Amino acid sequence: MKLFTVGPVACFPEVLEAMGMQMMSHRSKDYLKIHFETVEQLQGFIETKNPVFLFSSTGTGFMEASVLNCVKEKMIVCVNGSFGKRFAEVARANGREVKVIETKLGEPVQPEIIEKALEEMPDAEAVAITHNETSVGLINDLPKLTEVCSKHDKMVFVDAVSSMGGTELKADEWGIDICFSSSQKCFGVPPGIGIGSVSQRALDVSSTMKNKGWYFDLKVWEKNHTEGKGTPMTTIISQVAGMNVALKMIEEKGGKQWYFDLFKHRNLKIRKGIEKLGLSTYPRKGYESPTVSCISAPEGMSGPDVYNAVRKNGFELAQGYGALKETTFRIGNMGWIPDEYIDEMLETLGKVVS
Ligand SMILES: Cc1ncc(COP(=O)(O)O)c(C=O)c1O
Repeated sequence: MKLFTVGPVACFPEVLEAMGMQMMSHRSKDYLKIHFETVEQLQGFIETKNPVFLFSSTGTGFMEASVLNCVKEKMIVCVNGSFGKRFAEVARANGREVKVIETKLGEPVQPEIIEKALEEMPDAEAVAITHNETSVGLINDLPKLTEVCSKHDKMVFVDAVSSMGGTELKADEWGIDICFSSSQKCFGVPPGIGIGSVSQRALDVSSTMKNKGWYFDLKVWEKNHTEGKGTPMTTIISQVAGMNVALKMIEEKGGKQWYFDLFKHRNLKIRKGIEKLGLSTYPRKGYESPTVSCISAPEGMSGPDVYNAVRKNGFELAQGYGALKETTFRIGNMGWIPDEYIDEMLETLGKVVS
């Protein structure tokens, strides 16, 4: 099966090979070399001097950590699809008061609505933003949104699960306190690592926080990081080794800009192919995600009809998600995708929808 999924995505063969290695102690010099090299590479990828922690969880672990460590009572969550909703759910499940800013499906978050929400909830401690809403195939104009939060001196948490690695992220310049992702998306590594950068401000707030638990206590993670121990507990050694290889491979081929351009190339090729077939992407023009295309099903077919028919021909796309399950299907362009697979997939899709 050739994968055009939205995560877990197909992994680079080099990554899978590296992950087959024998185990070692997570306190050994060999592991720590891989660990800190990976941390440094990721810091470069998202342009941050802040520490990057590698949680043995998926990205959602960082949603929980942001709330537990940095929000005592209230926060604002921007929602333009299912994963923004999840952030709000995580905050509420931890007893926090949440003000949700929800856009119409397919529409980006505008800075003015964050401004308005901050006026209505001036004591909100933080704002959570989904950079790339995978369920709708939409990317928000992140720097414009974080600018408003900085103006109001609010902490910013960014869910970059399906954008980190696939497009530009300037965590420090854009004033992001916690910027997180998962290994199974743009980097083409199996699931298991929650990747997140954490600012000094977030760490300072965490040190005053009560009842934040232990596993996701950012101060515990910081201590182990700065003392050169890596992680507080046993870590996902194979995944980190795979991530290390993926990042080195990207570096050798031309660095992060080369990787972003590769995503752009694949994404445009898919979108042009879709247009040729008379299909259209769901979100507002100009806000289409560079990593996931969400496509409206043609007349007379449902999203699952298209997905199932393409699957029968050897290509795994992704089904629509949440409220768009019946009316859309999605094509991911993350991870390992040989270019010729795109042509083959579009040809198959063409036969299915004609
Ligand atoms: C934008 C976004 N946020 C959060 C998640 C949840 O990530 P995970 O399953 O790695 O915890 C996903 C997963 O698809 C996602 O696409």
